Order: sequence, then C-alpha cells, then structure tokens
Amino acid sequence: MREIKNQIDAYRKELEKATARIKDAESLQELHTLFLGRKKGYVTLLMNAMKFLPPEEKRDAGQIINLFKKDVQDVLDGRQKSIQKSRIISFAADLTLPGRSPYWGAPHPLRLFQNRIESIFQKMGFSIEEGPEIETDFYNFEALNFPPEHPARDDWDTLYLDKDDWLLRTHTSPVQIRVMEKRKPPIRIICPGKVFRKEAPDPTHSPMFYQVEGLIVDHGITFAHLKGTIDFFLRTFFHEKIKVRFRPSFFPFTEPSAEVDISCTVCNQKDDNCRVCGGSGWVEILGAGMVDPQVLKNVNIDPEKYSGFAFGMGIDRTGMFQYQIPDLRYFFDNDLRFIRKFSRQ
Ligand code: PHE
Repeated sequence: MREIKNQIDAYRKELEKATARIKDAESLQELHTLFLGRKKGYVTLLMNAMKFLPPEEKRDAGQIINLFKKDVQDVLDGRQKSIQKSRIISFAADLTLPGRSPYWGAPHPLRLFQNRIESIFQKMGFSIEEGPEIETDFYNFEALNFPPEHPARDDWDTLYLDKDDWLLRTHTSPVQIRVMEKRKPPIRIICPGKVFRKEAPDPTHSPMFYQVEGLIVDHGITFAHLKGTIDFFLRTFFHEKIKVRFRPSFFPFTEPSAEVDISCTVCNQKDDNCRVCGGSGWVEILGAGMVDPQVLKNVNIDPEKYSGFAFGMGIDRTGMFQYQIPDLRYFFDNDLRFIRKFSRQ
C-alpha cells in the first residue's frame, strides 16, 4: 500500500512537470497515453499492482488510484481547453493583418479611357450616340463624299461582308450621317465604338480598335470652335502636360481638314531615337475638319444656313499615350497582370 502511495506521489510530480511542457494537441495526446493509456498507462500499471495487495487494502488502494485517475483527467482536460483557446486567440490575432479580398472584376482599361473621354465631352454639352458596327457602303463611304471610284477608299482597308455592299465600318464617321439624317441642328454629339480594318496586328495596328467620333452642327460654327474644343479636350485628358499642334490634311468629308498631333508623352520630345514618335517629338492623335458642305447636302441640311465640325480619334491610341504603353496588343491579349493595373483593386 505504501509503495502504491509513493508511486502515485512520483506520478503526480511527473504530471506536474510534464503538463508545464505541453504546447500543442500532440504533446497533450502523448501525455494522455503515458498516464491513461489502456494497456501501459500509469493508471493501468497501478491497477495491475493492486492485484498483489492483501484483500483488506484493496478498497482503499482502489479509491486512491481512482482519485489520482480523476486528477490526471482534470489536469489534461484543463490543458486541452487552454490549447483550444490559444488557437482561437492566435487565429484572432491574424485578423489584424490586411485581408485578401477576392477579385471581383473591373472595367477593361479601354472602357475606362472611353468613360473619361465621354465625361470630358459631356461636361462640354455633348451627348452620346451609337451606330451599328455592320454598315453599308452608303453610310461608311458614299454619304461621306467618297464617290465609288474615289482613291481615298484605299486608305481604309475595308473588310467587306457581302457582295461589296455590307461591310464592317472602318471608322465611326458613318454615325455622323445616321444622326444628321434623323435630327436637325443644333447637333452636338460624340459616338464611341469599335471599328475594323484589314490590318495585321503589330505594336501600333490592330484589325479592330476603338474610335470616338465628334460632330457639331449649328449656325456660325467655325474652325476656331474646332480648335478650341480639341485643344481643351486634349489638355484636360492629358492634364496639361502636352503641347498640341494642328497640321493641314485631307478627308473627303471635311474641308478644310486637319490632323492633330500631341507632343510625345513617352520621350517628352527629348529622344531622337524614341520608338513611339521616331524622334520627331510628335504623335498623331486625331483627324478633324469642317463638315464638307456636300455632306450636309447629302442629309438635307442647308450649308448656307449651317456649318459644323467633326473629328475622330483612336481611344486605344489616346490611352497608350496617356500611360506610355508601347504595344497596342496588350489591350487585347487579356493578360490579367496588365488589365488589373488599371482597375482600382
Ligand atoms: N474618320 C477619320 C479616320 O478614321 C477621322 C475623322 C473623323 C476625320 C472626322 C475628320 C473628321 O481617320
């Protein structure tokens, strides 16, 4: 009996030391097996030893062993609870780290450029119109003053759909005609949309790209209005960081016509070998001009009473210059590493 008592005292001391070392569920389980394991646990060993006691001592011994067993259980249960708690606490502490939010998707960069362009023109009183991407020869060319055999048609590498009459629009200018057919002046609109040309993709060309057309028709519209509007738009879009220049040009549907350049945003007019401006210091950003009187006649607007100006610019190009993107194809490759740079997440 004394031996059993001594043994229990020794086990209690061992339990005390061992519990202090428990750090995780694994070391707790080890201790559980050591003390309460069914075959070789200390409690089982004590029970086995009890068999050799004289019968009158067995009852007391049984009680002491059971008491010890209960104490062991209590101690181990207590440790288990505190391990669970500390797990929760360490998990709760992680909550102070910035979370990783799921990616919800966001507008494509071209859509963001288009939104910005639209909002600048809307503030100037322009409204937004759209037209079909599949057009007829009449809207894409004829009504815009390209006669059937006009050599300027070669400038637009047209994708024809059916017997040379249906085609994918090569510019957004046909929307000018569609709007002027429906509405009488004053007209002040922009028309963003996709356009298509038979072109092999390279850093500055794509068979499909985006344009914004602009059109104003009213009494007494002059080239000064055109210049002021374009100048204001470009300075707002590029945050005043660029120079703007107008060059004489030709379009069949405007007279006089101009092309507009901005100072190169990639080299800032400083690199003679710049791969974007080729060292000229200027990049072309849009075509524009006064609406040709013949175009007004084609839609039954009297050119003696009304005049107007129009312009067309590439949305992709404008964004490329704003962000100094060297290759147009990035916009269409759908590489999320590129696309996500423009969204807010
Ligand atoms: N449609 C012309 C182009 O695609 C641009 C333009 C639009 C020019 C309006 C003058 C007026 O190049």
